[in-house]
Formats: sequence, C-alpha cells, structure tokens
Amino acid sequence: MNSKHYYNPNGEDILDEKIFGGNPTGFVDFNRSKYQWDSNIYDLMNANTWFPSEVNTSTEKKNFANLTENEQAIYKLTFAQLSFNDSAQEEYLSDFRRLASNRLVKATLSLQIMQEVNHSKSYAVLLDACGNSDEVFNLYKHDEALNRKNNRIAEQFASYIGGTSVDEMLLSAMASVNLEGVYFLLGFSYIYTLGDKVPGARDMIQFIARDELNTHLPLFANIFKTIQKENKIATKTLDKSYEMIQDAVDIELEYGKYLLENYPIMGLTEELMEQTVHNYANDRLTKIGLDPIFTQSSTTYLQKLVTKHLNINDIKSNFFESNVSNYAKSSLDINDF
Ligand SMILES: [Fe+2]
Ligand SMILES: [Fe+2]
Repeated sequence: MNSKHYYNPNGEDILDEKIFGGNPTGFVDFNRSKYQWDSNIYDLMNANTWFPSEVNTSTEKKNFANLTENEQAIYKLTFAQLSFNDSAQEEYLSDFRRLASNRLVKATLSLQIMQEVNHSKSYAVLLDACGNSDEVFNLYKHDEALNRKNNRIAEQFASYIGGTSVDEMLLSAMASVNLEGVYFLLGFSYIYTLGDKVPGARDMIQFIARDELNTHLPLFANIFKTIQKENKIATKTLDKSYEMIQDAVDIELEYGKYLLENYPIMGLTEELMEQTVHNYANDRLTKIGLDPIFTQSSTTYLQKLVTKHLNINDIKSNFFESNVSNYAKSSLDINDF
C-alpha cells in the first residue's frame, strides 16, 4: 500500500472530497463536513448506542416454550434469516468502505460496522437465553427457503462490489438500501406480531430496527443520491437499480410466503405481506430520488406495527434517556435536501 493512502499532504481539501475517486488528504475532521448528513448520522448513531445486555431476556426460554409450534418456527426462521443479514452486512460494509474516498463518510461507515456486529451479538445473547442458539444458527443447513434467500442476498451484494466504476458503486449502494430497507422488514413485523408473547425478542428487535431504519437506511440513501449527484450515471444503471429493488421485493416475498404457507400464524396474510413490502419498496425508491414503481396501498397493519415500535419513548434504556436531547437535535437533518 502506498503511504499516500494514509497521509497525503498535497491532496485536496477535505471539503472537496467526493465519496468516490479524487485525491483525499487523509484526515477525519468532523468540523468540516462536505455533506453534513454524514456527521449528523454519525451523531445520531452514537446517541442510539445500546447494548444487548440492556434487554431483559430472563423469561425468553419460558416464553418461547409457550408459543404454538408454528409461532416457534416463525421465531426461529426469522432470527436465522435476520442474523444472516447482519453478518453479511458487516462484511459488505468493510468492502464498500475500502472503495470509498471521503473520510467522514468512511468514519460513519466504521460506526455502522460496529453496530452490525452489535446486532450479531444481540442475536447470540437472545438465542442463548432462549436455549436454541445452535439450532437457529444452523437452520440454513436444513431449510432450503432460508438458504435460498441468504444466497440471493449474497449474490446481490457480490455483483457490484468490484468498484471498477461509479456506476458499479451506485449499484453496490443499492444492494445496501435493499438490505437495510427491504430484507429486514417482514422479519421485524413477525416478531412484533408475536409481541407481548416474547418481550425479550420484541425489545431486542426494537433496538435493531431503530438502528437499521433511522440511521443505516438514511446513510445509504444519502450515499446513493450523492454518488448520483457527483457523477454522470448511465440511464441503464438507474434501470438496473429498479431491477435490483424488484428482485429484493421478490426475495422478501418469496421467503414470506414460504413461512406463511408452512407456518401460518394469526395476523398474517399473503395480501398483507405483499402490500407491506410494496409500500416499503416505494418508500425506499422515493428516499433515493427514484420513482415508486409498485402498487401503493394505504399504510398496512404491519407497517403501523413497525412504526409504533420506532417510537423512542417506548424503549426503556437509561443510557438512551440521558441522550434524548442529543437524539432530537441530530434527528433534524439527516437528509441532503
Ligand atoms: Fe444490523
Ligand atoms: Fe444495518
């Protein structure tokens, strides 16, 4: 590695650093942010800091035992899939970060990487308390639908991480928008549907969902829009972005329908899942400055469940309560427009 990668005194001013390309000097200066959304999201991520040990999992084993057989299957297959998402995202972020140039964006990605590891740790803590950690983490070996969803997500991540062009990097960012904004959502809503029956799982998911939806998704939406603004992106690349989110919707619904057909539980229907995923996908497209392409329905019950649990006042955390003002301040401006 060339030493200029670490220190490049004749490089460009920090305010001129683009997300990709250019000639960065090599300093992380939070007082001079070209974008501002990056340091605001960094502050918001910090304000949201939580630890798995803050969630009470002492009754998880007993609560899990009281679930119906189908509810237990949904619980296990949901955590088996969500835990894959976080493991894959940690690795993907490390690869994406290596290809980026702007040091503040990279610093923000570093904190996101830490949070994804924290999510992996939280699944381990929860499932250990539940007494089925080995079984759940090994489900990909036995469940073909789970294995297929994981594989398709991995393929989308791997397709554009070569970093040979800004167009590729844009599509790579799209894969992350899909992960943060589509692949988690039905899983979150299943656990919220079980709700009070498994308060440990519900509270853990509440913390994880807040990270994914309030900071990680906006971070990658901003990265996507900024790459587009700073470079001339080919129309066919934008067409490909639409194809990628169409695939994401297909991946999410395929697994959702598999769970519903094999392990039906109260409160879930195929139509409800479809409307929910389509609405979320439209929202993600709008967030990255593209046009919504899916049939829009009125806000679904599952969306309302997810939104309700994003309400910070519902989250019991002494650490967090001491940081509420920080949260409020930082949440004002995390978009670039
Ligand atoms: Fe995560
Ligand atoms: Fe995330």
